[in-house]
Amino acid sequence: MLKLLLIANIEIYLIFQHIDWNLKSPQMSSDVEMEDRDKEPAINIPSTSGHRSGRRDAVQDRKNAPWIEKFRPQTLDEVAAHTEIIDTIKRLTARLPHLLFYGPPGTGKTTTVLAIARQIYGSAMQNMVLELNASDDRGIDVVRQEIQDFASTKTIFSNKFKLIILDECDAMTRDAQMALRRVMEKYTRNARFCLICNYVSKLIPAVQSRCTRFRFKPLQEEFVRPRLQHVVEQEGVKLGPGGMEALIALGSGDMRRSLNILQSCHMAFEKVDADAVYLCTGHPMPRDIEEVVRLLFNASFNDAFEGILELQVNKGIALADIVREVHPFILCMGLPIKVKIALVEHLADCEHRLASGTNEKLQLGGMVGAFVKAREEVVKAAQ
Ligand SMILES: Nc1ncnc2c1ncn2[C@@H]1O[C@H](COP(=O)(O)OP(=O)(O)O)[C@@H](O)[C@H]1O
Ligand SMILES: [Mg+2]
Repeated sequence: MLKLLLIANIEIYLIFQHIDWNLKSPQMSSDVEMEDRDKEPAINIPSTSGHRSGRRDAVQDRKNAPWIEKFRPQTLDEVAAHTEIIDTIKRLTARLPHLLFYGPPGTGKTTTVLAIARQIYGSAMQNMVLELNASDDRGIDVVRQEIQDFASTKTIFSNKFKLIILDECDAMTRDAQMALRRVMEKYTRNARFCLICNYVSKLIPAVQSRCTRFRFKPLQEEFVRPRLQHVVEQEGVKLGPGGMEALIALGSGDMRRSLNILQSCHMAFEKVDADAVYLCTGHPMPRDIEEVVRLLFNASFNDAFEGILELQVNKGIALADIVREVHPFILCMGLPIKVKIALVEHLADCEHRLASGTNEKLQLGGMVGAFVKAREEVVKAAQ
């Protein structure tokens, strides 16, 4: 009797082993996978070690965390701006499509997807979310193994789909994107993808068309200001005159940049005022740029050249920064259009040449010369 039971047990064990092997085999060869497209996904038991989504939860000591992490919105309601996107996503969470978030950095793309994950899974987030970003290897092997392994398994304690976040996916190789295209389709029943990137044009059209796209635009001042004010109050930062305006201006809609500047200024200076912000970032002060513009439009060639050179040496300003900051002045000046175009063209060439490592003094001479010529044109046009 005992012998019989033992044999029966062994047989059951072998049958289970066989089933297990059958379920896992599709992952071993990509050819077999294609045929098994409609098979139920294999089952896995949630691991206690969790997936890479734990990265953010690992910021346990939020007190000492960088402010960009410490003040990262935890829920969709806390995310500033992007009201239409957030409203649409809130309606979609029950039947989430594949998502594609794109737009400039520091606008809340990663924050939004993490808030979605938190809303859908709550404390089970660690087991249900796989997050890969640019620091991870993202060649074709990762798509074939890591993403596929995660997407093809199903957690037995939850019937929800899994979420795979591919942050900064514009850095993925073309081959990996090709492979991803198929994986996305194959495991739609079991997993959703959220692709995040800065440049959507770097994604192959086939991947783009499988996702619902949302563009995150740079944050407007009205959203950045209250958010920064909140951090200032929470951290007891002493704000000086012009400090907030400088933080907003230098951030140019990138909340991460504004927060990072605020934190480094707070650590380096007693008071965060305009001078502290510009000094801290090594950015030329607005009054120095105004002086450069005054010299360019009023002084003789020699005086302008010497004056700007002296300013550069004393304040440590790079010519590339001057070129970038002078540009908006030209655009808003009432110059004849031909002169405006010639100046902008010259500045663009100058920036290009500086980027390829040419001599700064020579380029400065060229720039001053272009302005002297422009002034002559303005006088001619007026006569
Ligand atoms: N819309 C936003 N509302 C509130 N904070 C934001 C917003 N966008 C960015 N931030 C802040 O900037 C940091 C970086 O945002 P993140 O979502 O990682 O940007 P990215 O768009 O580059 O993924 C966040 O930790 C958060 O503190
Ligand atoms: Mg991001």
